[in-house]
Amino acid sequence: MGKILVTGGLGFIGSHTVVELQNEGFEVIIIDDLSNSSVDVLKGITSITGTTPDFEQFDLKEKSKVQAFFKKHQDIEGVIHFAASKAVGESVEKPLLYYENNINTLVYVLQELQKLENANFIFSSSCTVYGQADELPITENAPIKFAESPYGNTKQIGEEIIRDTCKVTQHLKSIALRYFNPIGAHHTTKIGELPIGVPQNLVPFITQTALGIREQLSVFGDDYPTPDGTCIRDYIHVVDLAKAHVVALQRLLQNKNDSNYETFNIGTGTGSSVLEVIKSFEKVSGQKLNYKIANRRAGDIISAYADTTKANSQLGWKTKLTLDDAMKSAWEWQLTIKGKDK
Ligand code: WQD
Repeated sequence: MGKILVTGGLGFIGSHTVVELQNEGFEVIIIDDLSNSSVDVLKGITSITGTTPDFEQFDLKEKSKVQAFFKKHQDIEGVIHFAASKAVGESVEKPLLYYENNINTLVYVLQELQKLENANFIFSSSCTVYGQADELPITENAPIKFAESPYGNTKQIGEEIIRDTCKVTQHLKSIALRYFNPIGAHHTTKIGELPIGVPQNLVPFITQTALGIREQLSVFGDDYPTPDGTCIRDYIHVVDLAKAHVVALQRLLQNKNDSNYETFNIGTGTGSSVLEVIKSFEKVSGQKLNYKIANRRAGDIISAYADTTKANSQLGWKTKLTLDDAMKSAWEWQLTIKGKDK
């Protein structure tokens, strides 16, 4: 078996995917620039699997370093590409940083894969490409909507770049995985989410509030047209999401793909409201959460959850872990790291 390159492999989803790849016997090499992660994550991975993945620290924006890497590692048989900036709000403030970091790096990696005889590429995409879908649950055929943020636009553009490249590169096989909302942490509490600064996402804000790092959670609006008035999302345990990457890679390695560019929605198929997530947290932690209802957050969509039929049938994958499992793991992780970030 050749090596699998995981870019951004020390990040939240990347590190959990490295663990699942190693569990399946793959040899892994990570590229990470540590801009949004810590080299300590390597220890966490090793403590779970007993194997320390190879690791090279450099910025994929440096084209010459990307070229040198692939020259040195001729035995790469698959690439899972996580490396990207992913803060929606920051992308609105700094669009060029996002276009440079999320697009240039993808192009440089694809240029190297185009030179190989056989290449298998898994792309970290997002349900954000759908915007507020007209129909729920959301299938892969749902129309791609105008991106709400430069971050979301980099995912849409990224998919188009891969699609166009695969059209003219038959030996390049690719799958874009459109994640819904990844949450939780590995049950060993050796790896998890390390948000830098004030968390933008709901679940780390909940666990930090419960630990007293944050004063109070603001629920951004309870006047939406949903059963309890709060927004609905498809919260998927990060370990289930990580496993989806392994089965997608195996689909390509075993040439089971229907075309050389495919997309899959990766979610639980169930929507949960903000208040339901809070209730789940209070149940699994035994803690009452301090929250208030606040104004809506600009750019939030009302409801999104996946139709997982395609991933279930074609990948033979479905989620096994529940919202409660994810919230419990997120809380146990928060108790382990306390206030550490990065
Ligand atoms: C979820 C719900 C908020 C914080 C984003 C990106 C998406 C992906 C996941 C990268 C919403 C509410 C949140 C808070 C709240 N990221 N909320 N109080 O916005 O669905 O998705 O993260 O791939 O691309 O868009 O996730 O966790 O920010 O919000 O009430 O303090 O929780 O309004 O309804 P979102 P989120």
